[in-house]
Amino acid sequence: MEISIRLKTIADLINNCESMADIGTDHAYVPIYLVKNNLCKRAIACDINKGPLEKARFNVAIEGLDSKIECRLGGGLQTIKPDEVDSVVIAGMGGNLIRDIIEERLDVFKSLKYAILQPVQNPDILRKHIYDQGYEIIDEELSLDENKFYEIIKIRYSNEPKQLEDIYYEVGPKLIEKNHYLLKDFISFKIDNYRKICSYINEDTSFAKGRKKELECKVCKLEELLRCL
Ligand SMILES: C[S@@+](CC[C@H](N)C(=O)[O-])C[C@H]1O[C@@H](n2cnc3c(N)ncnc32)[C@H](O)[C@@H]1O
Repeated sequence: MEISIRLKTIADLINNCESMADIGTDHAYVPIYLVKNNLCKRAIACDINKGPLEKARFNVAIEGLDSKIECRLGGGLQTIKPDEVDSVVIAGMGGNLIRDIIEERLDVFKSLKYAILQPVQNPDILRKHIYDQGYEIIDEELSLDENKFYEIIKIRYSNEPKQLEDIYYEVGPKLIEKNHYLLKDFISFKIDNYRKICSYINEDTSFAKGRKKELECKVCKLEELLRCL
């Protein structure tokens, strides 16, 4: 079984893993990859919807991994007990939903060595939440899969709230610190995208003007950041 570049980047952030849970597993590709390659001894594949969970059960069964990967139906971290697993992956969902999943079962999140998050929308909102709550960002990764950028954030519970300039909720400081090989392309992509959105805003309302100004300001900050790399 081949996994995508995005899922492989997520899996590569899992280390020393005795047990993990994949929240919103859908196809269960991550737990299957980890267990099959002896990167993790046992896993729990969870999904809130029956259809995806059936898909996960089927894939686990055809790989002959039923004794090592358990499939559980339920929302967020509700299906996991504190201290039951070392780590969790919450990938392919919006940043707001990932935030809510963590906060709903803080007892479970606190018991983890780490959690790997891959928001598909609003990564900036999730990053701000992480810093506001004082969780520790252990590492960050970027992946470029089929011409799309994905941001992956590895965190653990801590209690040292920080406030950053807004631009660092958009571009993770860890990515800057490690001068990630995709960072310049990622920032350039964001600049082009914001410029494109600006070019579509032609209304004469104060809301539209405000939005345009906000985006132009983001472009300036991103350009400044790009010059410093
Ligand atoms: C787009 S898929 C992502 C699948 C996989 N994690 C990935 O990254 O490729 C999102 C999955 O999350 C599930 N899901 C949505 N909300 C959830 C929640 N609150 N708890 C658990 N699973 C959820 C959906 O049923 C769906 O299977």
